[in-house]
Amino acid sequence: MRKGVFITIEGGEGAGKSTLIELLSNKMLQRGKSVITTREPGGIPIAEKIRAVILDRQHVTMDGRTEALLYAAARRQHLVEKVLPALEEGKIVICDRFVDSSLAYQGHARGLGMEEVWAINQFAIQDLMPDLTLYMDVSPEVGLSRIAQAAEREINRLDLEKHSFHEKVREGYLMLLQQYPERITLINAEQSPKLVFHDVLTAIDERFAGFFATDVKL
Ligand code: TYD
Repeated sequence: MRKGVFITIEGGEGAGKSTLIELLSNKMLQRGKSVITTREPGGIPIAEKIRAVILDRQHVTMDGRTEALLYAAARRQHLVEKVLPALEEGKIVICDRFVDSSLAYQGHARGLGMEEVWAINQFAIQDLMPDLTLYMDVSPEVGLSRIAQAAEREINRLDLEKHSFHEKVREGYLMLLQQYPERITLINAEQSPKLVFHDVLTAIDERFAGFFATDVKL
């Protein structure tokens, strides 16, 4: 059994994942936990290069299956090089996106099929699933308007998809929630940042009551 804890943060565009991850890791560090934060696609040089290929706005001819395979390739390398070693060292790994993103975006929204996308991802992850996934739920209207207002955020190829694509992404996540109720917790990300953070800490407390034991109350 691995010694660390693997937490993934999921959600559509503008769900506030980055802000949450920063708050969460700071909170854990304050509590004396050993924690690393990372992201997909990317997190290490090889995967960052794959990320640049996937998200390049000029790559308008990219085939959906190619896209799914590239995400899975980046995921594999990131897992082997960064996530697994950290988990073996007993760290808490907080990762911005993981396999659920591929299932919701490529499997459901792109229409490749969740089962097929799951199959190629199994090859990449070999059953290594998160201990907890926080799904930050936000409507595309709210999420996309947040992105439009955040001047510093770069608009990538997937941001440019039609509104209906983002609706489908959300639908995909809600299907995953039904499928994995033990692993995935829905967080209402349309609330104020304070309430979002409160709900996240509550979810972590509930999920890891045994793991963090009495010395750490998040
Ligand atoms: P990013 O700029 O990191 O977006 P966000 O801040 O929303 O996470 O770009 C990642 C994009 O890649 C995002 O649009 C979601 C998409 N994506 C997939 O389609 N499939 C995947 O497996 C992953 C990891 C990301």
